[in-house]
Amino acid sequence: MNDRTALVTGANKGIGRHIAGGLVAEGFTVYVGSRDAARGRQAVEEIGGDARLLVLDVGDADSVAKAAARVDRLDVLVNNAGINPSLAPPTESHAEEFRRAYETNVVAVVEVTNAFLPALRRSPHPRIVNISSGTASLTWSTHPNPQFPPGRPGSAAYRSSKAALNALTLLYAQTLAEEGVKVNALAPGRRATDLVPGAMATGGDPAEAAAGAVRLALLPDDGPTGEFFS
Ligand SMILES: NC(=O)c1ccc[n+]([C@@H]2O[C@H](COP(=O)([O-])OP(=O)(O)OC[C@H]3O[C@@H](n4cnc5c(N)ncnc54)[C@H](OP(=O)(O)O)[C@@H]3O)[C@@H](O)[C@H]2O)c1
Repeated sequence: MNDRTALVTGANKGIGRHIAGGLVAEGFTVYVGSRDAARGRQAVEEIGGDARLLVLDVGDADSVAKAAARVDRLDVLVNNAGINPSLAPPTESHAEEFRRAYETNVVAVVEVTNAFLPALRRSPHPRIVNISSGTASLTWSTHPNPQFPPGRPGSAAYRSSKAALNALTLLYAQTLAEEGVKVNALAPGRRATDLVPGAMATGGDPAEAAAGAVRLALLPDDGPTGEFFS
């Protein structure tokens, strides 16, 4: 086992799988978080190197507790698992879509982060990277931006949940600053994954987004914390 360890949630496909691969290439032992064992095992085989399966459904408290019990020390936690249950604007959204988005994109991040904090505290340079979204930026949503024109306020549940994740990133960073735990958020950009219909055809390379997450995972001790990167 390598000296440094990382966990990437939702790493069986998409951006998460590329982040896991990038961290393996940097010499980490990487726990590939996957709620489905078979899909996770396949990703571990594809990633190769020191990738290991960690069955983890971020929305299931028992699964989170069992996974945390298997990890003694953790240097990097990447909260990547996320869903976009609806493209609807707020006026056409259902409460259930908001519950689902917030459960996975916000509540689960708190549950997973807190469960793995004891392991992170055993690291000399602990780093947490939250995979957010540029669509969550209130600044970008209210100023001219080719990606999010104000006339298209869709994915309300998803975008507001990621805005909450940005707030949480700051609160965790401030709470853990004195312990040397750096906590930052990454907006990966629109990428070719299964997250939203059509993105597979029109999105950019998910590997490029993953490289940004790996950079935040490797921040030096005098690097930033509580910030939102794109
Ligand atoms: N792609 C983009 O353009 C884009 C843009 C901005 C932000 N992001 C963010 O990037 C992150 C990765 O998304 P992606 O684009 O790579 O999408 P993706 O290909 O759909 O991957 C999402 C991953 O999250 C996992 N997941 C969902 N719910 C889970 C749960 N309860 N427990 C464990 N794993 C769970 C999925 O597992 P299953 O296979 O089991 O469903 C999958 O591995 C997300 O946080 C997303 O919001 C993506």
